[in-house]
Amino acid sequence: MDHFKYSNGTLQCEGTEAAAIAEELGTPTYVYSKAAFTDHFRSISDAFAPLRPKVCYSIKSCHNLHILRLLRGLGAAFDAVSAGEVRRALEAGANPQDIVFAGVGKTEAEMAFAIERNVGCFNVETPTELETLSRLATEFNREVRAALRVNPDVDAGTHPYTTTGKDENKFGIEMGQARELYAQYAHHPLLKLAGVHLHIGSPVNSAEPYVEMITKALTLIDELLAKNIYINLLNIGGGYGADYEGGESPTAAQYADAIIPLVKDRGLAIIMEPGRSISANAGILICRTTSVKQTKTKSFVITDGAMTDLIRPALYQAYHFAWPVAPGEAFTPPHRGKSLRLDGTSLVDIVGPVCESSDFLGKDRWLPPINKGDLIAVFSAGAYGAVMSSQYNSRPRAAEVLVDGESVQLIRRRETYDDLVAAEREV
Ligand code: LLP
Repeated sequence: MDHFKYSNGTLQCEGTEAAAIAEELGTPTYVYSKAAFTDHFRSISDAFAPLRPKVCYSIKSCHNLHILRLLRGLGAAFDAVSAGEVRRALEAGANPQDIVFAGVGKTEAEMAFAIERNVGCFNVETPTELETLSRLATEFNREVRAALRVNPDVDAGTHPYTTTGKDENKFGIEMGQARELYAQYAHHPLLKLAGVHLHIGSPVNSAEPYVEMITKALTLIDELLAKNIYINLLNIGGGYGADYEGGESPTAAQYADAIIPLVKDRGLAIIMEPGRSISANAGILICRTTSVKQTKTKSFVITDGAMTDLIRPALYQAYHFAWPVAPGEAFTPPHRGKSLRLDGTSLVDIVGPVCESSDFLGKDRWLPPINKGDLIAVFSAGAYGAVMSSQYNSRPRAAEVLVDGESVQLIRRRETYDDLVAAEREV
């Protein structure tokens, strides 16, 4: 179910006109749909229900406290990757036991903080971290649950910057070394190392790499069992796809059909860490056109939204469908995605005001005529959008709103000049 739809020639988010939000709150603004978050969370938890997984929403994909509260209300647990994210989850009311703490470079202070707060499980990425964690467990005299993030050397087929499960990546511990570490820590009185964590990249637009990584993990678990080392937890990570270009990502049910038979009768507790499959298509970014410009070779639509608001196109050459918010009936898009090319459209680059040639939101797009003042919606922006924004060029971060039917809740105010300089003024 799509909660961002054109009706009478103008974009609606649920029962609210996107243009009205921009008029009231200005631009650029992130607009999220409560119904979309809800549907996406339920579709993944329902699809995997036979495994009774703990669905740990990956906070990093969209970390707004109001979104975390919404998801917690739906039954989500949380995947955190820093003390900051652990604190967000706690502030959103999460039970500490429902937080898994991942991250390749946790500091000792972060680990101590998470032990004090009694987080549910640490996903450990290096032998050094494991040593520190066991020492802290002893110092705090607390039982600490941990999983090793195992690097299965499986190609997720993603952009190289978001591939994490190959030998050459910094993430996880290779199989052979993991085997030794499980044996070494098998009898630690306080550090309970009884889990395997996997996450090979994102977005993984096929179930096949999951099958491969899980099969390797199950072999490891069996080998350990043969040595009387018991693993009772398998965390199958995140990375499930979302449609950006149109129809490229498997459905939750397709992932589930491939994964469930592998682990169903293994008696393992299952954790999943979906982020973008829940958040990406639950948010759009609305920008306003500030200028248009024609050169000998190119047409530019310049908007007040920039790489500082949405860096994915600049960083990964990621595709986000972009379209005017109020194109009229004649240019109402029949569907979204890369293949759309309507009569009367022309080829433009949608760019921002930042002083970098990488500052674009869309390149070579067939768009209807655009004039100064026109609003443009950039779709599938709910994941790794607002969270990756910056203040480069002294640009205050965008506002964020959560729409629920006809009601619009401001969930992050637009930053001000004072926000930009506050940490400098106070010293
Ligand atoms: N679990 C772990 C250990 C992760 O590192 C990540 C994402 C996830 C779960 C959630 O992955 P998701 O389900 O959201 O795909 N900035 C990049 C994505 C980086 C992903 C980092 N890790 C992008 O904009 O595509």
